[in-house]
Amino acid sequence: MAVDVLRHRHVATVTLDAAAGLNVLARDQLGLLLDALRGLREDPSVRCLILTGAGTKAFAAGADIREMADLTEPEGLAYARLGHAVANALEGFPRPTIAAINGYALGGGSELALACDIRLATEEAQIAQPEVMLGIPPGWGGTQRLTRLIGPGFAAELIYTGRRVKAGEALRLGIFNAVYPADRLMEEATLLAEQIAANSPSAVSAAKRAMALAVAGQPDAGLATEAALFAAQFGTAEQREGMTAFLEKRKPVFTGAEPDPKAIR
Ligand code: CAA
Repeated sequence: MAVDVLRHRHVATVTLDAAAGLNVLARDQLGLLLDALRGLREDPSVRCLILTGAGTKAFAAGADIREMADLTEPEGLAYARLGHAVANALEGFPRPTIAAINGYALGGGSELALACDIRLATEEAQIAQPEVMLGIPPGWGGTQRLTRLIGPGFAAELIYTGRRVKAGEALRLGIFNAVYPADRLMEEATLLAEQIAANSPSAVSAAKRAMALAVAGQPDAGLATEAALFAAQFGTAEQREGMTAFLEKRKPVFTGAEPDPKAIR
């Protein structure tokens, strides 16, 4: 059981690696992932994060059913809260996150992918919330994030049936942003991450902060925050570099200086 972190320039790739190539998410594995995310969060040189699964079968086949089989109600609550903490750490990661879904993303695996900003997948990938087949509802955010992503009608169908959705359908539903042959997934995910990382990191983070309020259903606060973050960017090195580079007809080079946090209260 491991969570591997590989950094290349401004992109961190976090790989889930556990049981039987299915990357089942036992408690220990979640703890490792949470630690990795907390560490990367504090490192502003990481401008984009990719989350994927080891091997060719699975991104993650869900929470560990063996571990859950005998849980009591308080233990079940703790298990849900642990999963929420990890999914929230992904959703609230201050820079963009990409799930590179290299096979099954089931139950808790789907829920971690749904907590990422963008989902790329292989042609063989399948995603599902199969919890009701196990006598439980989704417990790591699936009821909320899938519903927000694809709307209540399609989310209801997928959550009530638990059926596995293949890559083409997931693409049509808007669960996956794009689908690639397996041997191109990581290359495409890295290209996308590098494209994001080449932009102003403080502007991208600001956009993510404002977009989070849209996702949370707070459009008024979202617009107020957007205006404040937009304004706070003026006079920063990144705004000057971005606009000067445009006017000088050259590519901008963003060094990663953050805007003064006092300016964006
Ligand atoms: N937890 C524990 N063990 C699991 C597991 C899981 N989520 N998924 C697979 N395994 C185990 C199997 O029990 C099996 O163990 P043994 O070798 O000891 O028998 C081993 O992994 C290999 O599994 P399969 O033989 O089933 O492999 P397969 O290739 O035929 O099928 C699969 C792969 C489609 C992923 C299938 O294993 C499967 O459907 N797994 C369960 C997926 C699931 O229901 N996930 C949701 C869990 S609930 C959840 O996540 C709740 C939540 O909201 C947080």
